[in-house]
Amino acid sequence: MIQLKNIHKSFKDQKVLNGLSLEIPEGKTTVILGPSGEGKSVLLKTILGLLPPDEGEVYLEGEELYSLKERELTAKRRLFGMVFQNAALFDSLNVYENLAFPLRIHTDFPEKEIQAQVEEKLAQVDLSGRESKLPSELSGGMRKRVGLARALMLRPKIVLFDEPTTGLDPLLTQSIDDLIVDTQKRFNLTCVVVSHDVASGLRMAHNVAMLKGGTILEQGPPQEFVKSDKEFVKKFLNAAAIKT
Ligand SMILES: Nc1ncnc2c1ncn2[C@@H]1O[C@H](COP(=O)(O)OP(=O)(O)OP(=O)(O)O)[C@@H](O)[C@H]1O
Ligand SMILES: [Mg+2]
Repeated sequence: MIQLKNIHKSFKDQKVLNGLSLEIPEGKTTVILGPSGEGKSVLLKTILGLLPPDEGEVYLEGEELYSLKERELTAKRRLFGMVFQNAALFDSLNVYENLAFPLRIHTDFPEKEIQAQVEEKLAQVDLSGRESKLPSELSGGMRKRVGLARALMLRPKIVLFDEPTTGLDPLLTQSIDDLIVDTQKRFNLTCVVVSHDVASGLRMAHNVAMLKGGTILEQGPPQEFVKSDKEFVKKFLNAAAIKT
């Protein structure tokens, strides 16, 4: 579904991505693990068509994203839902309006239809009845769930998650993991999850990739990934107390 080929990206003289190649299969969850500051968020923005690489190509359904005209790229972006690192809700809008927002911008649905879709998505993330709450009145876990619901409003085929569970306690982390797994299955989504939470990543992944030194150091299904003989991968897994 998505293919990254030999991606290079620098900011001034800082090289962040250095010849990165990765295939992201359709209808599966790919988890990208890696230490802080290695370029995970940069990679997601590159996939989303928001950050042109200095070199290399990003193919989406066979078409190179950054060779497309602006209008075609905008159309391609409609395939994506994005759950941002900090939930990125609109602070002055209540939960209902946060979810209605993408529909108001991109569709001409009447209010009745908008309401029906907002209610449906809220139920899916177990937040029915919280429509009038402001983001500041919600817990971190609830905000993450609103962020997920909002990312699904336009029925994307691909959902990108930037650190969906960072800052949550282990039980909430597990419930968000389960929600991602359920949502992925239910809509047969292609999910890309960026995380430095190893346990969480291994739990939800069909495929795991380790981003280190600007490239993919190791990848494979979780049960193979944990047997990696790469020193850095072993260190990362051991530090997270994962049995290898
Ligand atoms: N727009 C930008 N301009 C300049 N430097 C940037 C920009 N975006 C990212 N960087 C730099 O690129 C590097 C990688 O950043 P990125 O946000 O992708 O890290 P990350 O792996 O997502 O880290 P974390 O796990 O902490 O979120 C950092 O050193 C960051 O300062
Ligand atoms: Mg990041």
